[in-house]
Amino acid sequence: MVKSKSANLKVLITRPISDVGLSILKRENYELINNTKEYPLKPIELKRLVKGVDAILCFLNDTIDKETMDIAGPNLKIISTFSTGFEHIDIKEAKKRNIKVGYTGNILTETTADLAFGLMLSIGRRIVEGDKMVRDGKWNYGWGPDLMIGTDIHGKTLGIIGMGKIGTAIAKRAQGFGMKILYTNRATNTKSKIKSFPFDYTNIKLTDLKDIAKESDYIIISCSLNEESYHLINSNFISQMKKSAFLINIARGKILNQKDLILALRKKSIAGAALDVYEDEPIKKDSILKRMKNTVLLPHIGSASRDTRDKMSEIAALNIVNVLQGHEDKALLIE
Ligand code: DGY
Repeated sequence: MVKSKSANLKVLITRPISDVGLSILKRENYELINNTKEYPLKPIELKRLVKGVDAILCFLNDTIDKETMDIAGPNLKIISTFSTGFEHIDIKEAKKRNIKVGYTGNILTETTADLAFGLMLSIGRRIVEGDKMVRDGKWNYGWGPDLMIGTDIHGKTLGIIGMGKIGTAIAKRAQGFGMKILYTNRATNTKSKIKSFPFDYTNIKLTDLKDIAKESDYIIISCSLNEESYHLINSNFISQMKKSAFLINIARGKILNQKDLILALRKKSIAGAALDVYEDEPIKKDSILKRMKNTVLLPHIGSASRDTRDKMSEIAALNIVNVLQGHEDKALLIE
């Protein structure tokens, strides 16, 4: 643990952040309580370090609940999360105490949409499996007419569950691939007419989950996690999918019932799944998902590009500075 120059205001940073954000906080001369280890603080460490702080810069792995706020005490003015999701923070409790909650907004939209597309290409065209074959020395006969046969992306039907900012960015990319798009959004898990769409594309239809399950070749989960979306994608949904279809999750693990998915993958009732997020992260070392050929598994890296993480670092730091300086209007806060 590294403590910087003392000053009146204390800021706890629960994991290392890039210099872009760190330098902003250093400039203010706050007392920085800085976890320099690459792994998250244990709950007990978090509780020890949070005492008396004015601000917390936290991450998805930190649970900031009522107890944490109690321990932090009355000085705590802002919880700034280095993420767009904020399900790890008790927002209601923060509101009650007039503690502001900052987040990184939509900055990761395009980067996450890039990764969603990468996952779709990887699972459909067996890119990861092909790479492994070459590395393992199992590519024995050069070009082959049936070698690593996959599924096209272009011209196929893509179901997008949750047409928010990321869903829209995925749809834009899908347009370039000539895909037909079916989608739901939060307001309508049932059929209704779309009034306007942020870009001009005719091959797109707002529909319901059932239609998406039945018609899509690829399905990308890109909605946010809330009470309604917990296990939204379960055996009932998966059982309606085509045998040749793929499921991709770049949103939150708890939206997809992982047990139901594993069962479907084992029975080969769907063609495969590409996941960036899981019900529990990291997944267990002996997770059966790792032994399956019809999966591509990433370690929650949707927003992990240097540019985007630097911007997240900057926004998370500026949210703290702005709130501590009384310029709340300049901070990106959860309403
Ligand atoms: C977020 O910010 O919510 C992402 O999942 C982290 O990359």
